[in-house]
Amino acid sequence: MLQAPKGTHDIYGGDMRLWRRVEDEIRALTDVYGYGEIRTPLFEHTELFLRGVGDTTDIVQKEMYTFLDKGGRSLSLRPELTASAARAYIERGMHNQPQPVKVFYIGPCFRYEKPQAGRYRQHYQFGVEVFGSYAPAVEAEVMSLGYRLFTGLGVRGVRLHVNSIGCVDCRVAFNGKLRDFLAQRLESLCGLCASRYEKNPLRVLDCKSPHCQAQITEAPITTQSLCGECAAHFATLQDLLTRLEIPFIVDPKIVRGLDYYTRTVFEFFHGDGLANGGGGRYDGLVSQLGGTPTGAVGFGVGMERLVLLLQAQAPPAHKGPELFIGHADPEGLAAACTLASELRKAGIHAEYDLAQRSVKAQMKYADKIKARHTTILGATELEKGACILKNMESGEGVAVQLADIKGRFGGLHNRV
Ligand code: HAM
Repeated sequence: MLQAPKGTHDIYGGDMRLWRRVEDEIRALTDVYGYGEIRTPLFEHTELFLRGVGDTTDIVQKEMYTFLDKGGRSLSLRPELTASAARAYIERGMHNQPQPVKVFYIGPCFRYEKPQAGRYRQHYQFGVEVFGSYAPAVEAEVMSLGYRLFTGLGVRGVRLHVNSIGCVDCRVAFNGKLRDFLAQRLESLCGLCASRYEKNPLRVLDCKSPHCQAQITEAPITTQSLCGECAAHFATLQDLLTRLEIPFIVDPKIVRGLDYYTRTVFEFFHGDGLANGGGGRYDGLVSQLGGTPTGAVGFGVGMERLVLLLQAQAPPAHKGPELFIGHADPEGLAAACTLASELRKAGIHAEYDLAQRSVKAQMKYADKIKARHTTILGATELEKGACILKNMESGEGVAVQLADIKGRFGGLHNRV
């Protein structure tokens, strides 16, 4: 039997209702925070991720789905959306709009990772990106939005870990200290980290290998190498978070696994597991991709990991149709078909038999799909212009004029 590719999954039934709940919460939250939705292609030129995410990152070195198309171009399925959003910001001239430009997205990302609980080869990310501001208020805003997403969905115990890795100048000072520290441990690092030592030693701090992790427990921390401006930026951000009553922990271990970050980095955690979300400031990315220097901040939340947290909660109840219109003969079927169409046009969920069932089987089916009301149409009902409308919960039936049926139901928007 054909199976879905390793590390992918199908979302349906009760899980889909949880996903919809999360998406509804995201749309409500991004509305009040003033973020507009953006949809970018699932694949981009590979070059975008090499330059954006960074050619010494795990994502680019090990995890990208890269292929040549029939025209011989190297394309990659997007492993994340920040680089795509920055590309769109430049390409679509969004720098001409009032700044900052605030966008959000929900969509699939692809990474060739070792599948495990909460780690997939196709995962969905909800993310926000803010382009066009260097103010620490932006970090405070996106962190509060992220935090409120978790609490709004009833997830308790989320921890926000924040750190600053400084600007390009701070990085030069920090990389020097880090190289001195790593120099004595080079032999014990994995092959990839040994090669990262020269080009991008910060990446060693982010290596997933437990062996490398054991070597770096005493490594220097980035906040000790911050210049005056970066230190002040980080202090203002902490003050803002305190005023917003967003609890946070300053965690020097957070350095993030993508190369574009400058200054602030942060992650959301729940329990001891994998991060539920992460992001930071990336002031160099837009210019690196060919735009003018632009301050930017964003984060991404793994939708599957968020839904896993919610699975302990009851999914929203399945809503059956308002009315199932059964039929006793071919005239009844034609009438059921047109009545259902009329009700649907009015925003009322109606169903009728699509499987040539007997009357008895139609009523069994209506019960299974949790129809709130049923009726049966046939030559007699059409002649009288009336039918019996049965309330499936109480079992009571009332006679109604066919012309009055629509008025008996509110539109979908009136349903609980
Ligand atoms: P990231 O930390 O690589 O950051 O991914 C963001 C979140 O996506 C993670 O915290 C995790 O919840 C989820 N995630 C990542 N990989 C997987 C996977 N294989 N399976 C399931 N969930 C996963 C970014 O991608 C940045 N673009 C975030 C960002 C936006 N930074 C600035 N703006």
